[in-house]
Amino acid sequence: MRTIDWTENAIQIIDQTALPNDVRVLTLDTIDALVDAIGRLAIRGAPALGAAGALGVALSVVLFDGDQDRVRSAASLIRDARPTAVNLAWGVDRALGVLDNGVAAVVAEALAVLSEDALTNRRIGRRGAELITELGLHQVSALTHCNTGALACVEWGTALGIVRQLQEDGRLRHVIATETRPLLQGARLTTWELAEIGVEHHLIVDSAAAWALTNHLADLVVVGADRIAANGDVANKIGTLAIALAAADAGVPFIVAAPESTIDQNTPQGGSIVIEYRNDDEVTSWRGISTAPAGTPALNPAFDVTPARLITAIVTESRVFRPAETAPAGTRSRSVEGRQSPTA
Ligand code: MRU
Repeated sequence: MRTIDWTENAIQIIDQTALPNDVRVLTLDTIDALVDAIGRLAIRGAPALGAAGALGVALSVVLFDGDQDRVRSAASLIRDARPTAVNLAWGVDRALGVLDNGVAAVVAEALAVLSEDALTNRRIGRRGAELITELGLHQVSALTHCNTGALACVEWGTALGIVRQLQEDGRLRHVIATETRPLLQGARLTTWELAEIGVEHHLIVDSAAAWALTNHLADLVVVGADRIAANGDVANKIGTLAIALAAADAGVPFIVAAPESTIDQNTPQGGSIVIEYRNDDEVTSWRGISTAPAGTPALNPAFDVTPARLITAIVTESRVFRPAETAPAGTRSRSVEGRQSPTA
């Protein structure tokens, strides 16, 4: 089944908090339930959030019978459920764009977002595999971070979509998946998907990524993105920057895969991207069991920003570009920090 779908005037999702132990399907039939599911990462991953945004507007037009004021206030609740992945606002705005055309038109637009996701991801996969050939790589081992597979999208995946394409082409040797602290999207979700599709893989702790790259255990890094600034700086799951720095030092290509909807032309550079800070207890405990002394204050940014200069290429459904080469010098970011620091 799709990670997120629309059935009988409600949103149906695979609950990402229950995996890998339980494939639990949730039906979300109120805006509060949707906003809550986004906030606790039952739905997560930028393209899946785009679908959730569009479907959330569809749900609100159904619930409020097209009452535009109520739909718009529901839309702003959904848009604000998480700040960093631009796809969420993109999905909301796309469905709102046809609000004047009535309930059926909004639902149809949201469903179009879902069906385009699969096509988009297959295109990203093919372009990514071609790029890897152009880089002179044929049989490859890839290192990836977080979860960018079908679970982060509607179907197939972005960075993991490239991995799947390589596997289809008989060119994939092995994948190294990082654990992805604190919520373990790599350990819980990526390894689950890799096992489902029969890809040989190993799981490493996040802090072993530099070791893996400098010891040439991977020929390339492929990751997703939550927001790509106009100059090519990339916000993605916390830990991406450290991997990019290690890849640059080891001379390993660092590839970002994302749909065009993740590119935010209104954000000139990575320093302007709003980074989500999450609760301390995600760092100081795991599923209710303390892993640090009571009262330990934590810093818990969910994302970091990798500057364009560290990125070999960004692959979308319609192009491959090399931001380090094309970004005007004046817009290249030296800052890797987002705003909203809790210690500011
Ligand atoms: O906090 P999450 O799990 O929503 O973060 C997800 C990521 O950072 C992904 O790498 C990104 O959204 C791309 S998913 C194709």
